[in-house]
Amino acid sequence: MSYYERHIFFCLNQRDNGEACCASQGAEAAFNHCKSRVKAAGLAGPGKVRVNRAGCLDRCAGGPVAVVYPEAVWYTFVDEADIDEIVDSHLQRGEVVDRLLLAPHIGR
Ligand code: FES
Repeated sequence: MSYYERHIFFCLNQRDNGEACCASQGAEAAFNHCKSRVKAAGLAGPGKVRVNRAGCLDRCAGGPVAVVYPEAVWYTFVDEADIDEIVDSHLQRGEVVDRLLLAPHIGR
């Protein structure tokens, strides 16, 4: 059994050269909201869920992006309601949120 049941990584990469990056598209606020929501739901901790910062995940064209393991499911999101759905459906119940999936061909 793994230490965490599920792990979600948010790209919080910030680029200062004007190129698109997740940080310029609300990634930090989404990350903070996810942490709060997971904690409030009692999902945080060993055997449960961990919410982590990440650097560039190299799928910037679809940003902001996050990935959930162990399923390796990639999401893109717009607002707090999207994050709530990822937490409630995927992180809590293991049900993938199809409408927020990042298209498989999207890269940098
Ligand atoms: S800047 Fe977020 S995936 Fe590259």
